[in-house]
Order: sequence, then C-alpha cells, then structure tokens
Amino acid sequence: MGIVNEQNITDVVIASLGKHGEITQREREIATALIRHLHGFVKDVKLQHHEFLAACDYLARAGKLCNDNRQEFILLGDILGIEVLVDMMTNPVEGGESESTVLGPFYRENPPVLPKGASTIQKHYDNEETVWFEGYVRDEAGNGIAGVTMDVWEDAPNGIYENLDPDQPEYNLRGRFETDENGHYAFVAVRPVPYPIPDDETAGELLRFMGHHPNRPGHVHFILSREGYRPLISQIYDSDSAWLEEDSVFAVKESLIGKFHPAAKELGTDLHFTFDFVLKAAAAEQAVAAE
Ligand code: BEZ
Ligand code: FE
Repeated sequence: MGIVNEQNITDVVIASLGKHGEITQREREIATALIRHLHGFVKDVKLQHHEFLAACDYLARAGKLCNDNRQEFILLGDILGIEVLVDMMTNPVEGGESESTVLGPFYRENPPVLPKGASTIQKHYDNEETVWFEGYVRDEAGNGIAGVTMDVWEDAPNGIYENLDPDQPEYNLRGRFETDENGHYAFVAVRPVPYPIPDDETAGELLRFMGHHPNRPGHVHFILSREGYRPLISQIYDSDSAWLEEDSVFAVKESLIGKFHPAAKELGTDLHFTFDFVLKAAAAEQAVAAE
C-alpha cells in the first residue's frame, strides 16, 4: 500500500482505493472525499490520540443507543445540520414544488387510515388548541391531485410524541388521509407546541459541545405520496411559535411557515390553518437524475 510519512499519508490512503478489490465509481468518489476531508480535519485541529479514543468511545456509545424508538445517528446528523443539507441535495427545488425538510426520527409506518375531516386526537389536554387543517395538493400546473396519501404526525400538547410517552394511546396524533377528487385534504388535530429533541446521552453531549439548546418550534410533519409524483417529506411551522429562527435541527424553511387563525364556528375547532402543497411529477425527477 505504501510507506507513509506525515506529508504523503493522505495521498497514500487515497491511492490504495480499489487496489485489492473492485470498487464502483461512486464508492471511489465518496471514499476519496471522505479520506481527504477527515485527514484535513485531523490536521486542522491537530487531533491528539486521547481525543481520537474519546471520539471512538462516543460513536460506540451512540451506536448502542439505537433502537426502534431512538435513532441516535439521525439525531446527531440533525444537530449538525447534515440531514437538512442532504435533503436539500437530494430534493433540490427546481420549479414551483413545495420544499421538503427533514424526516426526523419519530415517523411511524402504517398510521391509522382516517377519512377526510377526521380527527387524529385520541387524548385531550387542558392546554390543547384544536385545529382544522386543510388545503389542496396540486401539480405544478395548478391542478388538484386526487388520491394523494398524506401521513401526518405531531407532538402532543405536553411536547411528547406518542411513541415516547407511555401515557398516550398508540398512534395518538398520527393519521393517514387522502385528498379528494379536487385534491383537497382536511383533518382535525392540535396546534403543535415547541418541544426539545432528546438531549440526554450522546445527542445531549453534542448539543452542549456546540453550546446549543435542544428546542424545535411547533410543527406538523407530512409525507405526501402518489404514483407519478416525487414523494414529499416536509413539515409546516407555526409562524407564532418560539424557536422559529433558532431550530435546534436547522429544518425551518420560509415557505413552510403558516399562520393559525381563529376558526369559524361551523368548523368546530379553536383554530384554522390552511396550507397548499405542490408535488413535482416523477417523470421530471427521473429526467434530472439521468442527466
Ligand atoms: C422532529 O421534528 O421530529 C425531529 C427532527 C430532527 C431531530 C429530532 C426530532
Ligand atoms: Fe417533530
């Protein structure tokens, strides 16, 4: 592989790639950049051996925390702004489509399938504000898209997602809806409240290392999907929420902020929130990917 010194070590490691086993172009590209950046980082900070061992121990502890309810590496990537950056590289906004943002670690597959206008609320809280959420899902030409599957999830008024809270019913504040023949959706839920991301263990160590708080502004998560369109993973944000400009995971985009208004009596909720989404056609996405 080569005899090394401090000057040539990076080039020697890069030159070794693929020497004793075939690797793809993409693997070579990623491994080369990874080695160059990591070596550059080590040289920049003159990393000492005890610090290297501390980093290995940190990653080992992070790995041991991962289970169905806690994906520590997603959290660490979020705190460092990596998930939002990867999402922007993966789903660049090229036309009028809605912006995506991070999935986060709290999505659950197969939420309850509910009819249009139904409520996701299974448990009530003294401080809750109920909301009629509605809007249209359209294509880039402005036509409503029927049959879009819409998964929604949010934290409860106590600031905790149901799967992390033994005192909430299963799938509380989660649901799967579908747009009607005009592309219209509607459901009842609660005004989302700000909450702290997990700030114990290795995520907490990283937040403190960066001098950050753990809080996220109030938001509702969405996944919109329908054959023929690029799936949209996104969130909508409460314009009056605390932490809107200081999100601990850097996921807030201007276009995803909306306002909660008092609801008209006939809606039967405290508040009303309207938000329209635009989906990009999958064919356009494939053409871009093929370029
Ligand atoms: C969330 O919004 O659920 C979330 C996103 C990133 C990290 C932690 C939580
Ligand atoms: Fe969230």
